Amino acid sequence: MTPFLFSVGIDAFGVAVPKTFVSLTKLAQARGVDPQKYLGGLGTELMGIAMPDEDTVTLAARAAHQALESSNTRPEDIGMLVVGTETAVDHSKPVASFVQGLLGIGPRCRVFETKHACYGGTAALQLAADWIRSGSAKGQKALVICSDIARYGLHTPGEPTQGAGAVALLISSSPRLLALEPGQSGLCSMDVHDFWRPLYSKDALVDGHYSVQCYLDALSGAYADYQANAGTTAAPGTLFSDRFAAFAYHVPYGKMARKAHRQIRTLDGDATPDESFERLVGASLRLPSLVGNIYTGSLYLAVVSLLDATKGDLTGQRLGLFSYGSGACAEFFSAVVQPGAQAAVQALGLSATLARRRELSIDEYEAVMRTREALDEKPLDAAKSAFAFQGIAEHRRTYARPS
Ligand code: CAA
Repeated sequence: MTPFLFSVGIDAFGVAVPKTFVSLTKLAQARGVDPQKYLGGLGTELMGIAMPDEDTVTLAARAAHQALESSNTRPEDIGMLVVGTETAVDHSKPVASFVQGLLGIGPRCRVFETKHACYGGTAALQLAADWIRSGSAKGQKALVICSDIARYGLHTPGEPTQGAGAVALLISSSPRLLALEPGQSGLCSMDVHDFWRPLYSKDALVDGHYSVQCYLDALSGAYADYQANAGTTAAPGTLFSDRFAAFAYHVPYGKMARKAHRQIRTLDGDATPDESFERLVGASLRLPSLVGNIYTGSLYLAVVSLLDATKGDLTGQRLGLFSYGSGACAEFFSAVVQPGAQAAVQALGLSATLARRRELSIDEYEAVMRTREALDEKPLDAAKSAFAFQGIAEHRRTYARPS
């Protein structure tokens, strides 16, 4: 029996970030903290902040729109639409249904939302990949969108690790960007309270240092499971992780990826585990350091960054990918870069998109944070830009449709 009939993977990416950001240097100064703690100690420079007309739906729709446009994909080609998020806008109606309406995706489509903290997007990706491999997709593609607004309280240790954004992944057979390696995946899940958000709270609660340890424990477990499933061992004189040309880890902040890489190399027996960090991980952290944590999309923003910023040709090379969701579920898996993938990502013009954002002063940022509770009762206004959140009437959220 041939277990996998198709090569399945990512055919296109789309990325959306908020229109505004905060400088962590200025936030540190305002909080009386040495800026080097945020820049070097955490590894983040700028943090995306969603404005009142932006939410998980608007970011998801914009990212998905870019993925469909850049790959000339028609709405009717989509047979599965899933949004992975931990900051949904409704307890019942999924973000995916709002996106379906905004993008004009037709009724013959399986539309739903997945949640497992930052792992929700990866859960959707693997589900979509299995749907295609099973043959049930019948030539259709899946649109998986990871969209979140990472929010902690003002003046909390988590405050400098916020961010917002969405990454859309178009999943197909014969993928143009990244082919997932069938069966090359390792899992580790456990019931822990490292990071969570009670139903009564808009802000996440976190046991910060414990969450770092949970991430690293889950990485060790998932990496060991990957090795057991890979069906191969390290060639003589090499480390197992030498089989990867580069890595993208879940990035709540850049330093966490450094800790993750050190962990993998140490497990492999590397006596100088930091030496390979810049070469194998550096490119993946460029965009995350300018956007902050975007929860479900963080790993995929790191992947996009890796393809965007790597100078050499990665075609045919294997990437090691690590997804972590608090609570916790983690997966280490791998994918092979397809010809033209780097050029396709560079054509998205993400550096220019980031450069167009407006900087918020710390006063403006705090004002935006304080008004967020009231947004659940925001009256309708006639916001004009495509996909903007317009407000709520009769308990129904309304968004501007593209013209
Ligand atoms: N110059 C340079 N570096 C400095 C410094 C200075 N002046 N001052 C401190 N640092 C360094 C520290 O040495 C430390 O580095 P190491 O981790 O390498 O030791 C780093 O800056 C952070 O310092 P602290 O640990 O003292 O910082 P903190 O206690 O204020 O909080 C945090 C850090 C726990 C990550 C906190 O920001 C937090 O709770 N964040 C949210 C939770 C989170 O992101 N967890 C990550 C794992 S869970 C996950 O990944 C899921 C998810 O997306 C949330």
